[in-house]
Amino acid sequence: MSLSFRAVSTPADRVDADLLAVPVGEGATLGPGADVIDDALDGGLRAFMEKTGVEGKEGQSLVVPTRGRTRAPAAVVVGVGSFEELSADGLRRAAAVVARKAKRAKSVATTLVELADRAGLERAGAAQAVAEGLSLGSYEFVRYKGGENGSRLDRVLVIGKGGARVKAALDRGATVAAAVAWARDIVNEPSGNKSPAAFADATKKLLRGTGVTVKVLAGAQLEAEKLGGVLGVGQGSANPPRFVKLTYSPEGAKRTLALVGKGVVFDSGGLSLKTSSGMETMKTDMSGAAAVIAAMSVLQDAGVETRVVGYVPMVENMPSGSAIRPGDVLTIRNGKTVEVLNTDAEGRLILADALSLAAEDEPDAVVDLATLTGACMVALGDKVAGLMGNDEAWVGQVQAAADRVGEAVWPLPLPSDYRKLLDSEVADLRNISTGNYGGALTAGLFLREFAGDVPWAHLDIAGPARASADDGYVVKGGTGFGVRTLVDLAASFDAPKKAKKKK
Ligand code: BES
Ligand code: MN
Ligand code: ZN
Repeated sequence: MSLSFRAVSTPADRVDADLLAVPVGEGATLGPGADVIDDALDGGLRAFMEKTGVEGKEGQSLVVPTRGRTRAPAAVVVGVGSFEELSADGLRRAAAVVARKAKRAKSVATTLVELADRAGLERAGAAQAVAEGLSLGSYEFVRYKGGENGSRLDRVLVIGKGGARVKAALDRGATVAAAVAWARDIVNEPSGNKSPAAFADATKKLLRGTGVTVKVLAGAQLEAEKLGGVLGVGQGSANPPRFVKLTYSPEGAKRTLALVGKGVVFDSGGLSLKTSSGMETMKTDMSGAAAVIAAMSVLQDAGVETRVVGYVPMVENMPSGSAIRPGDVLTIRNGKTVEVLNTDAEGRLILADALSLAAEDEPDAVVDLATLTGACMVALGDKVAGLMGNDEAWVGQVQAAADRVGEAVWPLPLPSDYRKLLDSEVADLRNISTGNYGGALTAGLFLREFAGDVPWAHLDIAGPARASADDGYVVKGGTGFGVRTLVDLAASFDAPKKAKKKK
């Protein structure tokens, strides 16, 4: 359920909510509104904090009674570290702590946004971060859980100097968070309930009334469009593939940004079968697709002026009598041939078609998101995405967008020297490297062959697309990683100059 946000100027002791949440800083400094709680405890808040070891460090929190002295029956103090050094992402994480503490409450009031001035943050940016943190932190996937389940929280009162800009920012935060929640939901959905056809239907449903048109290709249309990668990977499954094209084209748009997302609804590995433990998380192999679709759903609300076109291949990678075999050769949309030596390197095959189609449409730039390689997780761990590309300025723009929204992204190289590791005996290239190392890079080099001369960036999100534990506003399971980066990237898009492209 999505939260509703309201900016109020009511003093903290008089605000009508089930829970009052106020920040405390390093060295047990009391933040805005904490004086009210201190008064309710007859000046004993600091002693209370000291006894429980809560010093105001980030991540710490303490629920305290307010003895009828505030309208809210209870309060929670939330550590944020240094007030002066607090970042927008720190605020987002603190808001998530509030969300977790408020799961049993119907409503919560917080003074967190009032920290903006001391932290040197814009109030609007702070308000958006708080709305995102609260919404994302209260996310739960309870569709298949019995009993009484789910957070009861549905109303948030943001205390402080309101104004139209803060109100708009709260709305924007709630809207973006709802898109992230959609992505998390569909990533967490079992593969048995998200065949390519069902995934395409869910996409259509989401995008109704959002200014995005959806075109779904199936069957003979995929053949007619020569999408050999999609057809090849999809041929082993009883659930046939789809190719979804999404178009957001606001009036007067001068620039076009293309988004590509890997939509493997289940990755068994195919005949190059994964181990059973290797398959456990493979319902999440459509996280890149989910991020692209979710981001596109809020472009109109975010007032994006750039044309944005999404290219989303959806397939299920299964072993069967009709599955693609190691050694088979596929012809990709752009005419290049690929010898498939490992059917588990399937993502790059469907992305090759998608990038080819995108390049044909000559956008100003393209970015793809894919849970592409375990090797990227070896390199960067499971919280940081790998960023590669063929154009320094464009890669820099993607990095900057990710940095602004607090999604962890780190650059990796595409050494041309490694391209020969993809040389095939029988086709233009093979789908796995002949070497043993640098699998994230050789996957990136493979994709580069299909981006043509369009400035291209690639985010390998195999790690951060899924979380194995709750962490700040990230909740165990599908994370919706990339949605917020893409929305920011579309909103700030600046067409890279072709001259800067590195060959
Ligand atoms: N979907 C996987 C990558 C992956 C692995 C994502 C673990 C998240 C967690 C991808 O299709 C894959 O199987 N990649 C292979 C490539 C190899 C065969 C060259 C891999 O990483 O092992
Ligand atoms: Mn695979
Ligand atoms: Zn995969």
